[in-house]
Formats: sequence, structure tokens, C-alpha cells
Amino acid sequence: MIWKNEPKAELRARESEKKLKAARAMGSINGLLLILSLQFFVSNVYCLHRSQFNPSFLFGVGTSSYQIEGAYLEDNKGLSNWDVFSHIEGNIKDGSNGDIADDYYHRYLEDIELMTNLGVNSYRFSISWSRILPKGRFGDVNQAGITFYNKVINAILARGIEPFVTINHFDIPQELLDRYGAWLSVEIRKDYGHFAEVCFKAFGDRVKYWTTFNEPNSVTKLGYMIGSYPPGRCSQPFGNCTYGNSSLEPYIVGHNIILSHAMAVDIYRKYYKAKQGGNIGITIAAKWFEPLRNTTADILAAKRAMAFDQHWFLDPIFFGDYPSEMHQILGPNLPTFTSEDKYLLEAKLDFIGINQYTATYAQDCIHSSCEIDISDGNALVYTTADRNGQLIGTTTGLPGFCAVPWGIEKVVMHMKERYNNTPMYITENGYSQVSNSSMTAADFVSDIERVNFIHDYLTYLNSAIRKGANVRGYFAWTLIDNFEWAYGLTLRFGLHHVDFKTQDRTPRLSAKWYSNFLKGSKIAKGVGSELSSEY
Ligand SMILES: *[C@@H]1O[C@H](CO)[C@@H](O)[C@H](O)[C@H]1NC(C)=O
Ligand SMILES: *[C@@H]1O[C@H](CO)[C@@H](O)[C@H](O)[C@H]1NC(C)=O
Ligand SMILES: *[C@@H]1O[C@H](CO)[C@@H](O)[C@H](O)[C@H]1NC(C)=O
Ligand SMILES: *[C@@H]1O[C@H](CO)[C@@H](O)[C@H](O)[C@H]1NC(C)=O
Repeated sequence: MIWKNEPKAELRARESEKKLKAARAMGSINGLLLILSLQFFVSNVYCLHRSQFNPSFLFGVGTSSYQIEGAYLEDNKGLSNWDVFSHIEGNIKDGSNGDIADDYYHRYLEDIELMTNLGVNSYRFSISWSRILPKGRFGDVNQAGITFYNKVINAILARGIEPFVTINHFDIPQELLDRYGAWLSVEIRKDYGHFAEVCFKAFGDRVKYWTTFNEPNSVTKLGYMIGSYPPGRCSQPFGNCTYGNSSLEPYIVGHNIILSHAMAVDIYRKYYKAKQGGNIGITIAAKWFEPLRNTTADILAAKRAMAFDQHWFLDPIFFGDYPSEMHQILGPNLPTFTSEDKYLLEAKLDFIGINQYTATYAQDCIHSSCEIDISDGNALVYTTADRNGQLIGTTTGLPGFCAVPWGIEKVVMHMKERYNNTPMYITENGYSQVSNSSMTAADFVSDIERVNFIHDYLTYLNSAIRKGANVRGYFAWTLIDNFEWAYGLTLRFGLHHVDFKTQDRTPRLSAKWYSNFLKGSKIAKGVGSELSSEY
């Protein structure tokens, strides 16, 4: 199709990246200074400053349990779905797994030191379900798991860092998959409710920010529509899996996740909130969809893509039902909420967590024929980063994820309008570098692209806040390079470099930049006076 010229545009963007890299390689320090001053002259000289955000604004970093902890069989931990999935040949790009990852289970104090050096006031991390409940509700609480997270929570609080806890970030006890098919069964709601309550009971005296789920829209699409995440279920033409049904199962799974969220919020409100005084929300992967052309059809296509991606989870929580676009296309394949479910959903949430990385163009495939994008659900849209040979942003290490700083303002303003300006936290935002085993820290530490990425996204986030968006925090993804799911160790998102052979951590330029910003330095795009004098 005529829109299929994305690879060429990608190539062009890669070419200019190569030039940048060549310039940097020329003479590391002089090269970097050159790039810094080039950046200075080509960009609008915005002076981003900590004081443009409320003093109580949470500025943090994020991590997730399976991606960093390792110690996968230690201290009575049960196997998780990711432990099993990553051990099956062909599932992970480089054949790696999270058995050791960053060895954070043993090195968490060192990593908390890195956070202290950054000067963050909050830390977003997740709890490994199978470390706390190795057999779900069919076994006991593992005290060693509780002890580990108590040590983490107490260590960060002692350093003035607020815990922002994700109850579930992709990893679930394998036991629940084996017993009843995990998210495909209503049984999982009881298990999730039990797990959430164990967490509130054990940690809620100190944890004031909870999110029930990280990116349920990724769990459903990647695990049950494309099949690239556990349990690797899908059907043709979405993917080539042994089991699954891509136009049915993602919606059953989503339904059980939404009602598990509602159950946890209900438990928290009824039994813990008064005593513990915290807030509870959910985190959604929130890509922005921009109409490819200024036509009614493409404008509706972009809305439909948002519906099948994000309103899917948030509309039921706010309005008690799925968006009309999903009803129209899915018909009886979309589960329905009973009156009891709707009653439970009235607990809603206290805040929306937004993981924002990228934006894409959306083209209508209902009224004109085009290649429907299977990774965007059954929305009947084609998505592309390319408009008339022009990329929507600059490429990053993750294919299809262009850096599009204005996208964060669009998403935040959209959430503000649709969900009554409910408090929002940017729970993830970050930049990836492609890596392989023959590259070293030196190849990655001068990450000017990541500095510019964070600077530009914060600038547009601040613009949304000035327009009245109720955004209360921002978490850079991520503290340290980690096990990046199906990409294994081939993508690096860290403010700190990790050598996975030695477990050495090295702060990148971006860590120094973020720390200067948080300490209140005036910082223009990648060129704080502090940075140029230091480099
Ligand atoms: C689909 O998977 C089957 C079984 O693993 C394999 O034999 C077949 O070649 C695959 N087809 C495609 C199109 O990848
Ligand atoms: C998926 O489920 C729907 C509804 O039951 C059914 O019509 C369709 O044939 C199924 N598709 C596959 C690939 O099994
Ligand atoms: C889209 O088209 C409408 C009507 O044709 C026009 O008023 C509007 O300015 C256009 N928007 C953009 C972004 O081009
Ligand atoms: C790793 O990446 C570098 C830089 O892109 C490349 O030159 C090298 O050939 C790659 N090595 C392997 C083992 O893939």
C-alpha cells in the first residue's frame, strides 16, 4: 500500500542518527561539547526548571520486579509466568531471561543509593506476586517475600523517598496459569483480591500510592492477541500460536483485569483507606493516536484506536461500560458487566497512571481499504509513523516507538477532558538504546538523545499542566538497564548503565542531567551550564 514506505523513512532517520554517533565517536569530549552546543543553537532555548512544577510534584524513577530482581528461586519464591515463558527457547530475542537480571534482590541498597544521588522524591516499583504468594491463594504467605519489600520500603523512606507501588506488573504465579488459565478465568479475581489485601495489610502503613495494574492493555494485547508475552496465546491472522483466539480472549482477560482492579479498590476503600490514608489507581500504556489525514474518517479512526487501546480499561472504571466503538465492532464477543459488577466498579479510582512513550498516525480501514494493524486490536485502523515521507518523530531503540514529545501533552489533555481532570501521574516515560553483548558501557554513557527526550517530554508535560491538567508526578523509566521482556537484554532504558556480566552500574549523562534538574539547576535542552562545565 502507498502508506507502506515506513522502512525508508526509518532508514533516513537511522542515517542521521549514525551521523550523530560518528560525530560523537570523533573525539569523545570535544565531540560531545560540539553536539551540546549544536543542540543549544538548533533548539528553542527553553529553560526547563524544577520550580515550574509544584514543590509537592513527585519526581521519581520506576522499575518492575521481574525486570530487575533476579533471585528467581530464592527464599521460597514460586515460579512466575515470566520465569517459565523466558525459559522456553525462541520466546526472548537474545535467549536471555530474568533469573539474575540486575541482581537487585541482593543489590537493592546500592540501587537505592543511586536514587539518593539522583535526588528523586519517589520510587515506583512492583511486587512480585509469586515471591509473596508462591501458590496464590492455594498456599501461605511467604514471609521472606514480605521481609524483602519491607526492607526496600524502609530503606527508601529513611532517605526521604516515597514508595509508589505497582501491585501487579506482568508477573503472576505460574500456579494460577496451570490451575485455571489465570486471566481467562473469573477465579483470578479472588486471587488478585487476596494478593492486593496481603499487600495493603503488610505495607499499607507506609505506602500511600498504589496502582493495581501496570499496562493491562499490554497484558491483553501482547499475551492474548499477538502472543509475544506469556501465555503466548493468539490466532491467525494476529499471530501463529498453538492456542488462543485473538478476537475473543483479550476481551475476556481485560474483563477479569478490570473487575480485579475494582475488587482491590473496593477492599482498600472499605478496610484500609480510612486507617492508612493512601490513594489507589491503575496505570495504562497511553500511546497517542493522531489522525493520518485531516478527514472525518481518519479522525474517527484515531478515536477508535484510543477506544480499543485505553478507553477499553478506563471507561468501565469511570462510566461502568465499554466505549461504544468496542460494542459496535465486537458485538457479542465483548463481555458485559452485570449490575453487581457495575456496583463494584463505582469505587472507580483515585488517579490515572499514564505510561507515555510515543505517538503514531491512524488511518481508517473501514471506509477505504488498507492493511489493518493487528497490534492495535480490532479497531480497524492502520497505524504508521510515516506521513508523506515524514516521520512523526525521531526513532528510538524500540521499533515503532518514535520520540514524539508533543504526544504527552495530547494524551494528558485528552485524559483531562474525558475523565473529568482526575489526578494523573506519568508513571513511565523513557528512551531506549539498542544493545548487544559485544558493546560496552562506553558505547552508551553519553546518552544525549535520552537527555533531550526527557527534557522535551517534560517541557510538553509542563505545558499541559499550565493549561490546567491535574498532573501530580513523573517517573522516568528507568533507574537501571534491565531485562526488557521479549527484547531480553537488547534494549537499554536506564539512566544508569548496567554491565550484566559484572553487575557494575555507571551513571549516564542522563542521570547527571536529571539530578541537576531535580536539584533546581536551570537546564536548557541538554545544555545546563552545569553540564557543559562538567564535560
Ligand atoms: C506456525 O507455527 C507452526 C508450528 O509451530 C509452524 O509449523 C509454521 O511454519 C508456522 N507458520 C508461520 C507462517 O510462521
Ligand atoms: C473466536 O471466537 C469467536 C466467538 O466464539 C468465533 O466466532 C471464532 O471462530 C473464534 N476464532 C478462532 C480462531 O477460534
Ligand atoms: C482540517 O480541516 C478543517 C476543515 O476542512 C479545517 O478547518 C482545519 O483547520 C483543518 N485542520 C488541520 C489541522 O489542518
Ligand atoms: C553489535 O552492535 C555493533 C554496533 O551496532 C555492531 O558493530 C556489532 O557488529 C554488533 N555485534 C554483534 C555481536 O551483533
